[in-house]
Amino acid sequence: MRPRERSKKEDIKKAAKFLVNSKNCIVLTGAGISTESGIPDFRGEGGIWDKYKPEIYGDISSFLQDPSKFWKMAEDIAPTLFNAEPNPGHYALAELEKMKIIKAIITQNVDELHQKAGAVIVYEVHGNINRFTCLGCRASYNKEQVLNKLKRKKKSSPLCDYCGMPLKPSVVLFGEDLPKFEKFMSIDLAKKADLMLIAGSSLTVAPICDLPVYTLSGGGKLIIVNDQPTHLDDKAEIVLNGKTGILLPLIVEEIKNIKT
Ligand code: APR
Repeated sequence: MRPRERSKKEDIKKAAKFLVNSKNCIVLTGAGISTESGIPDFRGEGGIWDKYKPEIYGDISSFLQDPSKFWKMAEDIAPTLFNAEPNPGHYALAELEKMKIIKAIITQNVDELHQKAGAVIVYEVHGNINRFTCLGCRASYNKEQVLNKLKRKKKSSPLCDYCGMPLKPSVVLFGEDLPKFEKFMSIDLAKKADLMLIAGSSLTVAPICDLPVYTLSGGGKLIIVNDQPTHLDDKAEIVLNGKTGILLPLIVEEIKNIKT
């Protein structure tokens, strides 16, 4: 076996041991864990922000000026987003929850794939793409209602049935506050964690990219699984570069070996 492969195998064993011995482990995921479900990430190769400028398509002030730009991007991404299924990386994390190895999953993703894979304690710190609200009267709409509106009136932003104002998906755009409960809960969990497993995030967007730092300052450790380097790699106990859909199941398999 080549040295790099050997060291990866050893790192997987080491990660499994850290997870089995942790008392308060939480997981932080990013868009990278959903790319193997067909959903593009933002900053990886061919990411969404390569094609759509975030300051125009992902920012609340530009949404309020002209929602049609956001909806044009949404129509392009919606089919993959709404039809995506969990991949082995999501199932591996759901299994860690069932095995009581992890306490919670904090996710920056809005695709609900952790829940679809069976995970229960999931904090969606950037919202959820399956819920929509009216910017005027705060009326709420579900995915089917909005998809019907988009079908009926092609190429225009869906409007509220009651007050006629534009609808917005319940996802956090740049310039918006995070949902209060999820934000404070994730900070509290990060501060108390003795181990944070980070999967598929570039760790570049505040305030969530600060969560691993809270864990470190509380004396906790980091395990990073990502196919690109991150700025916290040198602070992590273990860095596994590769696909979450391959590496996370291997870690779960190793944990099962330890436990038998
Ligand atoms: N396995 C492992 N890592 C992967 C995989 C994969 N299959 N696919 C992509 N990656 C890595 C990418 O190399 C990148 O480093 O996952 C990371 C994803 O980073 P981003 O695209 O920046 O996604 P994320 O960290 O979740 O972004 C945070 O930014 O635009 C906002 O609100 C948006 O929630 C998002 C936030």
